Amino acid sequence: MSKELIKKAKEKFGAIIEEQLERVERMKQPVKETDYSSLCPIIIGLCWGDGIGPIISKHAQTVLTHVLKDEVASGKVVFRDIAGLTIENRAKHMKAIPDDVLEEIKSCHVILKGPTTTPQAGDKWPNIESANVAMRRYLDLYANVRPVRIPKQGIDWCFFRENTEGAYILGSRGFDVSQDLSIDFKVITEQGAERIIRMAFEYADKNNIERVTVVTKSNVVKTGDGRFSRAAFRIAKEYPAIKLDEWYIDIMTAKLIDPARRKEFKVFVLPNLYGDILTDEAAQLQGGVGTAGSANIGRKWAMFEAIHGSAPRMVKEGRDKFADPSSMIRASSMLLRHIGYPQQGAKVEMALEVCGQYEKKVVVTGRDTGVTGAEYTKYLLSWIDNPQLKARWEEGIKEGDD
Ligand code: IPM
Ligand code: MG
Repeated sequence: MSKELIKKAKEKFGAIIEEQLERVERMKQPVKETDYSSLCPIIIGLCWGDGIGPIISKHAQTVLTHVLKDEVASGKVVFRDIAGLTIENRAKHMKAIPDDVLEEIKSCHVILKGPTTTPQAGDKWPNIESANVAMRRYLDLYANVRPVRIPKQGIDWCFFRENTEGAYILGSRGFDVSQDLSIDFKVITEQGAERIIRMAFEYADKNNIERVTVVTKSNVVKTGDGRFSRAAFRIAKEYPAIKLDEWYIDIMTAKLIDPARRKEFKVFVLPNLYGDILTDEAAQLQGGVGTAGSANIGRKWAMFEAIHGSAPRMVKEGRDKFADPSSMIRASSMLLRHIGYPQQGAKVEMALEVCGQYEKKVVVTGRDTGVTGAEYTKYLLSWIDNPQLKARWEEGIKEGDD
């Protein structure tokens, strides 16, 4: 009996190793990076998602269309609707991303993606893989870049979360060896670690930031996290002006809520699951996960999304129109910068901070105690168009904490 189980487990494990070695070889191949300045038109795919996804994504599209008025009018930027990334359609096809939807996604240059439901055992959906995780893997979106800024408190963080490996890559491929034994896998490769760490250092270098922090648990998870940590120290040698320090994930979660220390940190680079957890904590300090956006960057494609899920409870309770669109609008500002419109991106970011952190004339609370997402978007647009935007934003930073 147990011999048979071991044989089966060995076969499964063997297949995984083969696949991973092939993936390493693919990562070594050169890929032509997309040059957005040479594209005409730039195609932005809109995946609406489900739960609060469609409603907050629509608000984000309104903002994008507003700041790219001329480009949309001239046909330089076009939006492409991708309707099929809903939990109903995914469940129907029993796939994280149905094949035709994946083809549509691949036909775009960048994607703005609303939150999608991630099924879990026991809920009403088949337990298929998360659409986010699948898209990150299919498009090889290896860098998950998540900025969190609270200028009043001197906080300006940028997280570089490894996005295609770690505890996630085989998250849905673990298996029950026997009735009593479950095994999951965590994968760190030299190439996977190196490319995200390099991106973090390049970002620090370009922005004159003197410190990069690598977050691991390499004292316990010695093999994979150990590799990630070693790669960071090796790459750091190429950037003598930047100091690298290593923190363990447990103490890092504590330091993030230590007002005396947290300002010191600027750039974080970390394996997938630690990045998932730490960025929710950071976003909460900024005003909630509803305020945080994220860029998923690969060599060919890029996808921009909120850092949170689809909040089905809000829909069930009829509160979806009160959902905060800031996360998707923040993601849109990152999209704008990525495709070559940094000024428009900066305007959107300044407006988000003026409205959400300084002026706060109207607020979204997620329920009828606050304004609707549509009203909040109008408020943001009025600031985007306001000639005083930059001055008000600079004033806000100086105001200090309240
Ligand atoms: C995120 C989300 C996803 C993740 C979920 C929805 C699969 O939490 O983008 O951080 O775990 O990566
Ligand atoms: Mg998360």
